[in-house]
Amino acid sequence: MRNFIIVSVLGLAACVEEPVNGRTTYLESCAACHGVSGAGDGPAARGLAPDLTMLAARNGGVFPTDDVMSIIDGLERAPHFSAAMPEFGAGDLGETVIVENEGLGTPVPFKLLVLTEYLQSIQQ
Ligand code: HEC
Repeated sequence: MRNFIIVSVLGLAACVEEPVNGRTTYLESCAACHGVSGAGDGPAARGLAPDLTMLAARNGGVFPTDDVMSIIDGLERAPHFSAAMPEFGAGDLGETVIVENEGLGTPVPFKLLVLTEYLQSIQQ
């Protein structure tokens, strides 16, 4: 009986938990370095973190979705890429969801997806 009550309380807590959202995930995991606005002015980066609002502008006006996902995940980074930025794929990026990409269903961790969509939404 006691176990049953604990289980139902946990179940309820899971239901009322804040939904995972790109901005809150960004503020939790990225803003310390890249800044609250994404301009690269976070206190922890000592000027090393790039402006994340110019990713599309620096890529001929096209938001580089795949590159951004690989960089956040840590899956694919340029050899000279700074080790200062954590490889978030090594941690918990949430449940995997299937995303349609060029006609193929690609599994993507949910937080990686919402973070990438959030970054796309703040492009200048
Ligand atoms: C501890 C500091 C730190 C944290 C936390 C951090 N980053 Fe970074 N990030 C960096 C640094 C430093 C670079 C530049 C690396 C380089 O180019 O050598 C970078 C580069 C990037 C780039 C590539 C930008 C470009 O111009 O190509 C993206 C995209 C990025 N970060 C996204 C994120 C996201 C999203 C998060 C949160 C999930 C995050 N970063 C968390 C420090 C950080």
